[in-house]
Amino acid sequence: MKESAVTVIGGGTMGREIAFVAAMSGFSTYLVDVESRFLDNAREQLVKSTDRMVERQRVSQEAVDAGFENLEFTTDRDTAVKNSSFVVEAIIEDLEIKQQLFAELDNIADPQTILASNSSSIVSSELATGLKHPERVCNMHFFNPVLQMTLVEVVGGEHTSRQTIDRSLELAKALGKTPVVVEKEIFGFIVNRILMAIFGEALHLYEGDYASIEDIDVAIKEGLGHPMGPFTLMDLVGVDVNLGIQQLAAQEPNDHLVKEVSPTLSKLVEDGHLGRKSGKGFYDYSN
Ligand code: NAI
Repeated sequence: MKESAVTVIGGGTMGREIAFVAAMSGFSTYLVDVESRFLDNAREQLVKSTDRMVERQRVSQEAVDAGFENLEFTTDRDTAVKNSSFVVEAIIEDLEIKQQLFAELDNIADPQTILASNSSSIVSSELATGLKHPERVCNMHFFNPVLQMTLVEVVGGEHTSRQTIDRSLELAKALGKTPVVVEKEIFGFIVNRILMAIFGEALHLYEGDYASIEDIDVAIKEGLGHPMGPFTLMDLVGVDVNLGIQQLAAQEPNDHLVKEVSPTLSKLVEDGHLGRKSGKGFYDYSN
C-alpha cells in the first residue's frame, strides 16, 4: 500500500531529516512544529545539509529540489495529520508530552493512519495505552544523521497489529532504508542495547584497572574492526548523554543491561567533562 501522505511531528535534528527523506522519496510530506521559527530553522539546516550532499555528489540537485517541493513546513498539525496515512512523531524525549500528543493524534487521525514514534527510549505501549486505536501505534527508530544512516528499527508491542508492522516496514523500504523488526518491546531495541553493553564492559575493564582507556579503544578498533573505540565514541556522543541512558536503563525492571550506573561517568559529568563538546571527557580535546 502506498501511503497517501506522511506527517512528521517535531522539526528538530531527527524529524526534519525524516521528513526530507520522505519528501525526496516522492511522498507528499508535512513537517510540523509548534512555532514557525523552529520550522524556519529546520528549513535552513536542511538547505545546509543537502547543499553539502550535492557538493559531494551524494545526491543530485534535482532530487533535492523535488524534496523541497514535496515538503510542506507547517504549524497546522491537525490539517497535516488529517491528510496523512502515516505519522512519525519525533518531538522531545518526554513521556508526558508524548502521551498527550498521542492522545490528541488518536482523536484527529483517521483510524487507519499509523502513528509511529521515533523515540530512542520510550516504547510505544507507553504511548498507546488508553487510545481508541492502539493497534496502529508502533516505534519506528531512525538513526542520526537520517539523511545518511539507512537502518530503521521497527518495534511492535502486544498492542500493535501485524498490518501496522508491515506498513511501517514498507514505508521504511520506500524511503530507501533497511528496516529490521524487534518483535517484542525491550529497552534500547537492538543497536543501542548492544552499544550500551560494549560501553558498560569497556567501563568495567577500565574501572577494574584491567586496561587503560587508550588500550581498550585500540583493542576494539583493531580487534573488532570498529571505526572508533568505545571511549572515543562516548566522548563524541556526550558523556552526559551516556550517563542519562545508563540511568534510564538501570531503572528498567528485570533487565540485566545496566545493573549500576558507572561511577566514572557520574564523576566526569559532575566535573563538567562532557566529552568533545566541553573540550574534555575521557580524552582531552583542548588543543
Ligand atoms: P530535538 O530537540 O532536536 O527536536 C525536537 C523538536 O520537537 C523541536 O523542534 C521542538 O520544537 C519540537 N516539539 C516539541 N514538542 C512538540 C509538540 N508537542 N509538537 C510538535 N513539535 C514539538 O530532538 P531530536 O534529537 O530530534 O529527538 C527527537 C526524538 O527522536 C526523541 O524522541 C529522541 O529520543 C529520538 N531520537 C533522537 C536521536 C538523536 O540522535 N538525536 C536518534 C534517534 C532517535
